[in-house]
Amino acid sequence: MEDDIIYRKLRLILIGFGVIGQSLTKLLLSKSADLYNIYGIKPRIVACIDNKGAAISSSGLDLERLLNIKKSKGTVARYSDKKVAMNSLEIIENTEAEIVLELTPTNLENAEPGLSHLISAMRSGKHIITANKGPLSLALPSLLELADYNGIMFRFSGTVGGGTPILEYAKHCLKGDRIISFRGILNGTTNYILSKMETGLDFKQALSDAQKNGYAEAKPSLDVDGYDAAAKLVIMANWIMGMKVTMKNVNMFGISKITLDDINKAKNKKCAIKLIASCENKVLEVKPIEIDINDPICVDGTLNAVKFTLEHAGEQTIIGKGAGGIETASAVLRDMIEIRDNIINKI
Ligand SMILES: NC(=O)c1ccc[n+]([C@@H]2O[C@H](COP(=O)([O-])OP(=O)(O)OC[C@H]3O[C@@H](n4cnc5c(N)ncnc54)[C@H](OP(=O)(O)O)[C@@H]3O)[C@@H](O)[C@H]2O)c1
Repeated sequence: MEDDIIYRKLRLILIGFGVIGQSLTKLLLSKSADLYNIYGIKPRIVACIDNKGAAISSSGLDLERLLNIKKSKGTVARYSDKKVAMNSLEIIENTEAEIVLELTPTNLENAEPGLSHLISAMRSGKHIITANKGPLSLALPSLLELADYNGIMFRFSGTVGGGTPILEYAKHCLKGDRIISFRGILNGTTNYILSKMETGLDFKQALSDAQKNGYAEAKPSLDVDGYDAAAKLVIMANWIMGMKVTMKNVNMFGISKITLDDINKAKNKKCAIKLIASCENKVLEVKPIEIDINDPICVDGTLNAVKFTLEHAGEQTIIGKGAGGIETASAVLRDMIEIRDNIINKI
């Protein structure tokens, strides 16, 4: 009975039921036995919201049914015949839950709708997990203060490196040492394009190849002009280096002006051109530069790689897939386990 009370304390409000939201739901289904047996977790999604409406059940939504309804009807609002009258902010405020999962699209202009969701969750005392870079890149310093003020846990592993635990590696595994600087490849799309250019395609051809393979959006500016990498750099600088910075603090250059001639000149020097995000002497920069092909961050395709320079332990590099539905959902799940462990430790 006591156990049950603790398990009941993991009620989730899921906002955004696209690639990541649905991948997470599939993970919760496929790993439910492990989650219970290994971590003692029995999560319940008590509200699920997409752009067209919501489904709510205080005892937990049936996850198979939720996925099927989304697939067949296009919205979770059709989960029940009775329409949910509340909007997303009202649902966050009025639904009893421990964690809000914010998985709506990234908006680097005004951070909405994610920013309002996060603020509402914090004000109503709910812990937060997000994979949405928008609010963090524009307002992370004040969001961290607000989270602290409201005594809630705020985690965002999936915003940097997809499923690769870049933020946790720096934050937890390097404890006791001091990170002097870091640099790396934080955007898989541009790395794919530059890797394709190595094979002889020009920028336009490589971009079109990336679009055909689903690695680049129809409007690729977010990636090729460096915004996505800059947003991740801002998150890392705040979370890992304790800096209080936003997008406007990043010197940013994209890859659209890189020519085959530049690629070949680098090749002759046993280098490759990579879009590198760096935090050195507290200066934040995203720009294409030549990297020695033997440098561990010189990875190809859609991989991400970050090299940390430490005061005592020297240089260390972490490499992994930078995006993907199930990969990023695994980062959200990791955050969930950490938050739940912290909740239990406080009881
Ligand atoms: N995909 C990746 O590999 C990846 C990796 C790392 C981080 N991320 C980030 O994770 C977040 C989610 O990505 P995703 O790939 O799952 O995006 P997605 O497939 O576009 O899904 C976004 C979801 O948000 C919903 N939505 C949009 N506006 C909303 C609103 N105002 N209120 C409630 N729901 C709303 C959409 O509703 P509808 O279904 O009705 O359209 C959709 O369900 C994004 O911020 C993305 O940048 C993604």
